[in-house]
Amino acid sequence: MTIISNHKCVRICQNRTCRKQGAVDVLAAFEALSIPGVKIMASGCLGHCGNGPMVLVLPDTVWYSGVLPSSVTLIVARHLLDGRKEGRGDGGKEGRSDGVMEGRSDGGKEGRSDGVKE
Ligand code: FES
Repeated sequence: MTIISNHKCVRICQNRTCRKQGAVDVLAAFEALSIPGVKIMASGCLGHCGNGPMVLVLPDTVWYSGVLPSSVTLIVARHLLDGRKEGRGDGGKEGRSDGVMEGRSDGGKEGRSDGVKE
């Protein structure tokens, strides 16, 4: 039997480098919003240190890097509510001035998403 879930999970890295870059405030911004069918989780290192705060949306495997607390509402509105996947697969630095990184959703160099801190 195959179980298909429409639920999404947003993982926000809370490891050392991302925390220095403001990940605590990004996590708080996601948690402050009530998003039906979306689980918000603090995560260990996602393997894109230095590009943070890093956010990974599953099961889409869409990455957002350099996320600002002020851009969380935009990510939620566009990706989680509207279904527009504008994140990035490789966690690259180039992006928009609103803190939302554009790019691919193919998973790129996927990092640790198992919650294990290094
Ligand atoms: S510390 Fe956040 S991705 Fe490594």
